[in-house]
Amino acid sequence: MTVLITGASGFVGSRLAYALVADRGQRVVCLARGSLASAHRRIREAVGAHGALSQEARRRLLCVAGDVTQEWLGMSAADYARLAADVTAVWHCAGDIALAGERERLFRVNTHGTANVLRFAELTAAGCRVVHISTMVVAGGRTDGIVREDDLTDAYGFETHYDASKFEAEQLVRAWAQRTRRPVVVLRPSVVASDAPVLEGAAGHPVAVFGQMIDVVGRAGAPGIPAPAQRAESFRLRLRLRVSPDATFNIVPDEYATQAMLRIGHDFRHEGPGAHTFHIVHGQPTPIRDIIAVIEAHYPILRVECVQDVPDPTPAELFIAQHLTGFFSYCRHRRTYDRTRALAATPGLPEPVAVDAAYLRRALSFEGAPLAVSRTA
Ligand SMILES: NC(=O)c1ccc[n+]([C@@H]2O[C@H](COP(=O)([O-])OP(=O)(O)OC[C@H]3O[C@@H](n4cnc5c(N)ncnc54)[C@H](OP(=O)(O)O)[C@@H]3O)[C@@H](O)[C@H]2O)c1
Repeated sequence: MTVLITGASGFVGSRLAYALVADRGQRVVCLARGSLASAHRRIREAVGAHGALSQEARRRLLCVAGDVTQEWLGMSAADYARLAADVTAVWHCAGDIALAGERERLFRVNTHGTANVLRFAELTAAGCRVVHISTMVVAGGRTDGIVREDDLTDAYGFETHYDASKFEAEQLVRAWAQRTRRPVVVLRPSVVASDAPVLEGAAGHPVAVFGQMIDVVGRAGAPGIPAPAQRAESFRLRLRLRVSPDATFNIVPDEYATQAMLRIGHDFRHEGPGAHTFHIVHGQPTPIRDIIAVIEAHYPILRVECVQDVPDPTPAELFIAQHLTGFFSYCRHRRTYDRTRALAATPGLPEPVAVDAAYLRRALSFEGAPLAVSRTA
């Protein structure tokens, strides 16, 4: 069994590649950008970060230099044909997750890149599994209600070009499955987070990035924000965020997400052609209020306010708005995600750990004691 996986140097893909090679004993070929030597080095580092690999597993972890935006996936035509004849599964996990990115850039990787991967998959043997990593944000601008696993509509518009590019990719996947009469597994994770420290050089996750930005403000790393030594004891930094106070996020811990995706994408038998779509989400949404409570508890100088608009922004508010534009697009959603089909395909899989204050603190990378207000000024 040979699995081709794209995006294995990334946060989600490295976890999947590790699980496929170490837990499922697969021969895993990782398509990665750059020279073959640098692709090898990055993949070994990214995949190896999730646990020790036996010598035999290391032998089964292979690389091919490529790029999903290029013709023949960036390979020679001969290598492309050889690989297509060899693989028994394709996991397409590469993506550009820049939430505030330009439309052209996001569509090139997420949509056009998916079309190229599907073109490759069409050359594989009929029994070859195709797994496409999508995202719950294909639900676009829908703010309320229950999103079903089969739903795929542009009726609500999109919050970001990222949503739209991933929606279009799913449309392509569905059309391909219908035309070729082959099954495709579509996995839609919510915000995948980890409560382990982000290792130097390893791919980070969205919750940690949010935490790092808040940390810059709380510790005065951004222009116009007084350093702790210059703050009076009474100093408080008002931080207005353009978020709805009753918004919720769906944050799914990485260990559960990886196991659920592996069981559904690798272990489970899917009957019949067409796209089989599964929500990889937590059963309990995380209220934005819980996240704000954790921020305020860790940075007592911060007073976070949920507002509709931020007129005359302070330097701290400008900094946050500039760095987290895409993130705030989702902060008025209260929709939930049905996971009936995902649960049916993962019998016995323990529920994900609770995303409570302690988990959020670790995922936001708020380590140690709360940062006290300086007493020296
Ligand atoms: N993280 C989440 O919470 C989350 C949630 C839902 C869905 N997803 C989906 O999961 C997938 C992976 O996301 P991630 O969080 O793991 O992102 P990530 O850490 O940024 O990793 C992205 C991966 O895609 C690769 N890639 C980007 N452009 C490529 C190209 N042109 N050709 C080949 N490979 C390319 C990157 O390779 P380089 O190392 O060369 O950059 C990297 O391996 C995406 O499809 C995303 O939409 C993620």
